Amino acid sequence: MKRRDFIKSSTLLAMATGMGNVAKANEGSHIQELSHEGKLITSAPMLQNYATTSMGIAFAVSDMANGYVLVGEQPDLSDAHKVLCGGFRTTDINDRVQQIRLTGLKPSTTYYYKIGADRIEYKGGYSMKVLNTEEDEHIYHFTTAGERSKAHFCVINDTHVRWEPFGLAINKIAELSPSCVIWNGDASNVEETIEAQMRIFLTPETKRPDYAASTPYLFCPGNHDSRGMANRHLEKVWMFRQPEERQSRDWDLGRNFAIRMGDVALIGLDTAEDKLDTNPIFAGLFTSAPYRKAQVHWLSDALSKPEIANAPFLVAFCHIPLFDDNPRSNPGDIAPADSDPNYNTDFAMWQRTCAQLWTPLLEQAGCQLIITAHQHRYQYFAPTPTRCWAQIIGGGPEMGFTGSGDNRKEAPDRFPTVIEGIIVDGKLQVNIHNLLTGKLQDSFNFSPKH
Ligand SMILES: [Fe+2]
Ligand SMILES: [Fe+2]
Repeated sequence: MKRRDFIKSSTLLAMATGMGNVAKANEGSHIQELSHEGKLITSAPMLQNYATTSMGIAFAVSDMANGYVLVGEQPDLSDAHKVLCGGFRTTDINDRVQQIRLTGLKPSTTYYYKIGADRIEYKGGYSMKVLNTEEDEHIYHFTTAGERSKAHFCVINDTHVRWEPFGLAINKIAELSPSCVIWNGDASNVEETIEAQMRIFLTPETKRPDYAASTPYLFCPGNHDSRGMANRHLEKVWMFRQPEERQSRDWDLGRNFAIRMGDVALIGLDTAEDKLDTNPIFAGLFTSAPYRKAQVHWLSDALSKPEIANAPFLVAFCHIPLFDDNPRSNPGDIAPADSDPNYNTDFAMWQRTCAQLWTPLLEQAGCQLIITAHQHRYQYFAPTPTRCWAQIIGGGPEMGFTGSGDNRKEAPDRFPTVIEGIIVDGKLQVNIHNLLTGKLQDSFNFSPKH
């Protein structure tokens, strides 16, 4: 068994049990000391797939384990019930990532929880036993989505396993304390092992290892999040959304989301790869084209749901931009292999196919804003008489320069961002936080659609 790093919080260990270690309302992640000791639970929990009536909770383990969550509405967990990993029939014992799905939750409701795991000795069909049980002594909390939830989101993107910009981003998120965070793709580079994926999401190199324990996350995959053998099954680390959130027709659309949070409806789309399925380097192993089309039917239904249609603000998220006014930017539909001297890259800088498929529906629904990523340079495109939505492209991981070694160049327009959306005086205020300067880069206000 490979020993994996684990996290011990001296702060948390010093805290008393019971009410003393309940995270306070609006409290975000904690600065904690990292250490490496042999424990069964080796990460803080990560809240995955913010939703109205469900919540995913994932954490890392170092040995064969059967994970669980104790969850209730009382801060001391006196009313808690236990939910085991996996689904019906059998639990999902494994030695890496425990995933627990909480279902049947109430909208806009705060729940308290703690994680635990039984260490399992498994020798065969009838030879298995619990060796011991470990529980994280910290009680965390989360609040489900819904019309009564506070409309306040943050967006990070293109973190690319670079710890400095990631650390700055989660410090900013801890300061802002949003209701949820949208991780808008390219969390990965090329990930071949589940351990590499766990390092990105569950045990990142950060002083805030519980960054996602009380702040739920949403995920819009980027092109890099499909690359590498392990990323073909990223759901082993970041679970798919609950099946009951979609029709059977959309069974494989485990990443799309349509969520009401206060006055804002959030729509998550997946632009998939930035190269065509026909590009020879992909050897016929990618199926982005039918995936993009399948999301049209899902989107059409999602936008007609009353809680989405009635929301005063509609904001969509996807990784690759759906608009670019630079004629040299590759639109991602240059068959068969993405290359053409008219464009300055041989991969998509924006996604014309997705724009043609999705934006008519979003426009009809009154979408005010689409938040994208991928270009590693913050940009704002204001709405025009022919395009009702604004587009924001979040910054990438570069800290004021591009390249390395002899190719290193100063580039003050290359900085990571946290994009914050919050309702202020009946308007959606969107703040662009520049993580390089630590200053507010821009702020925009959007009026309600009705
Ligand atoms: Fe990227
Ligand atoms: Fe990208």
